[in-house]
Amino acid sequence: MLHSSGTLTPFVTPTVKLSRLFAPHAAHIYAKLDLLQLSGSTKERTARGLIEDLLDSGRLHTGGMIVESTSGNLGIALARQCVVRGLRFTAVVDENANPLALNLMRVYGATVELVATPADGNKLAARRRRVQDLLAEHPGSVTTNQYGSPANPRAHFASTMPEIMAGSGGDLDYLFIATSTTGTLLGCQQYIRAHGLDTKIVAVDSVGSVLFGGASGTRRLPGLGAGVLPELAAAAQPDLVFQIEEIEMVHGCRLLARREGILAGASTGAIVAAMGKLLPDLDSGARIAFMVHDTGVPYLPTVYDDDWVRATLGADPEPGFTADPVEVPHP
Ligand SMILES: Cc1ncc(COP(=O)(O)O)c(C=O)c1O
Repeated sequence: MLHSSGTLTPFVTPTVKLSRLFAPHAAHIYAKLDLLQLSGSTKERTARGLIEDLLDSGRLHTGGMIVESTSGNLGIALARQCVVRGLRFTAVVDENANPLALNLMRVYGATVELVATPADGNKLAARRRRVQDLLAEHPGSVTTNQYGSPANPRAHFASTMPEIMAGSGGDLDYLFIATSTTGTLLGCQQYIRAHGLDTKIVAVDSVGSVLFGGASGTRRLPGLGAGVLPELAAAAQPDLVFQIEEIEMVHGCRLLARREGILAGASTGAIVAAMGKLLPDLDSGARIAFMVHDTGVPYLPTVYDDDWVRATLGADPEPGFTADPVEVPHP
């Protein structure tokens, strides 16, 4: 289903019920398929919200320039949104960025600036410094500030969570969201509070991320986690937090692909791993929703490549549990 304004607004993506992923556990599990956005991720919503906020407040005009630090998905979404809005875009990226994501940004006409990893190893801080330099070099240019702009969570308050409610039938016990800026989580949290819902929010973060008190460490897979606390994170109050290892993300991704035929990125694999940890403690009738944050296609050379997994993560790429297809009776 499309909004009437075609490619300007994000798609209303389907929310589908999964019956195989954790069978025979009988929890009701709903997947929000944001991998079907035109730019391939939830960041399509964030990008639209951030840009419209700048346009509405008069800080950005048609023909203007946006500069943003991005590990990939926001850059792709901003690049695409800039095409259909007549804007220019420079993405500031680091070595963690997926080369395929950078190619996609370039396809949409973006300029891509690669920032080298500084001596202290803090890639995010280095990217943010470069954004400030570029803004100074290009008078009139603006940054969308995905890390601090209230327009980021507002986009998810206004679209992501209402769509999950409509698509799942609501009455959710748990909602699993991967975290980076925490914008998606915050928007859903605001919705849950505004509507007095009992839904518990589960934040899914990466080992090596400083969000939620974690210790900074090496993170190779993009999409989730942060090396520096984003401003938005101060307001994020999840009911549960899971910090997931990269090999668990790989196993989660592969399980989702093999059991449900959904090819997702690393952060969704982390969510699947986190659900697998919580599920044994839940009643069989538990109602759960989770975000499929992005498509797994750009992760074919990493998450889904056996040699990369063995060489980089030093572990068996296949899940310890069986990933064979599961027979599920038709309703
Ligand atoms: C792959 C991926 N993981 C996780 C997230 C959640 O990120 P944030 O906390 O910045 O909203 C997104 C958002 O679009 C995403 O694209």
